[in-house]
Amino acid sequence: MNILSIETSCDETSAAITKERRIISNVVYSQIDIHKEYGGIYPILAKREHQRKIGTVLNKALAYAHVTLDDIDAVAVTFGPGLVIALEVGLRNAKELAANLNKPLIPVDHSEGHIFSAFAQNRKGNPKREINFPFLALVVSGGQTNLVLVHDYAGYEIIGRTLDDAAGEALDKAAKMLGMSYPGGPIIETLAKTGNPKYLDLPIPLQNRNDLDFSYSGLKTALKYKLQEMNQHEIVSNLPHICASFQNAVFTSIILKLKKALQQTGIKTLVVGGGVLANKTLRSRIRRLCRKNGVTYYQPYAQKLYGDNAGMIGIAAYFKYKNGIYLQNDLSSLDRVARPDLTMWVG
Ligand code: KG4
Repeated sequence: MNILSIETSCDETSAAITKERRIISNVVYSQIDIHKEYGGIYPILAKREHQRKIGTVLNKALAYAHVTLDDIDAVAVTFGPGLVIALEVGLRNAKELAANLNKPLIPVDHSEGHIFSAFAQNRKGNPKREINFPFLALVVSGGQTNLVLVHDYAGYEIIGRTLDDAAGEALDKAAKMLGMSYPGGPIIETLAKTGNPKYLDLPIPLQNRNDLDFSYSGLKTALKYKLQEMNQHEIVSNLPHICASFQNAVFTSIILKLKKALQQTGIKTLVVGGGVLANKTLRSRIRRLCRKNGVTYYQPYAQKLYGDNAGMIGIAAYFKYKNGIYLQNDLSSLDRVARPDLTMWVG
């Protein structure tokens, strides 16, 4: 079954062709250079760029997969969470395609894509991983920091979430305070490699609470106060140490909550997804935790699958289609949703 999927929730215009769990093509056009000077995503520009690029991206996805529209069996699209005016571009194109081809339209929550990205396979069908429920999913990106108990293909229970900023957003804001460009996560990762994580004494958010929630706005403020106590020369010459300290506080809070979640649920399979998981330091800390606790750990097979991409949307869409979750005729009932919570369009 060939699924053509579209993802335009934020600043990546992406289209992919997937065959069951295999990603055949996955074209991602990133708008990063356009938003850089604003220190974050500028919604109107994001919308314009999606509109400008979506046609080319779709054509490339078809060409790279060596298929035409006649070979497409279903169309999938991200309906949220994300920027409303950006999501609308993907939805409009997906609806038009599904209607013109007279094929099913599969609505996918962006988080479902990140959750199932660890089960994506390359063209040859590797890696061959069984999906055994229930499993725990850790999704950390610019918009979310969620611990999700996945009971089955449509049964999601969010057991931990951020109360304010997402972890990626906190890294981006810290980078901005330090005069770095957007997105800050990868820059902080690079600088932190040679830094001392104990240089700044920063609080580990919500570490004494027994629940599984996250919070990063207090940590961001703590960094702001530390920086106010330093002069510019001190900041610049200690940048790697500052980055290492901030990154360490963010990641330690993730590890602590993840450890609690594994203990409280007794779940023995963990999957991870989302842009922040592109970070090698975070992944190696998670792998160590899993090894110590006898937990099977799955991550996406390629670096490209951590950030926003339509390939992961196609994988989640395949499972939804198999469970009968799609629209056939009345496509108007599908609309974009800025903040869905994994309970919409699950059957
Ligand atoms: O999943 P994603 O591409 O988009 C959203 O759905 O939000 O995640 C983007 C976030 C940004 O906050 C970015 O700074 C962060 O992921 N990020 C990283 C790394 N690469 C991207 N954070 C830490 N280390 C990285 N290597």
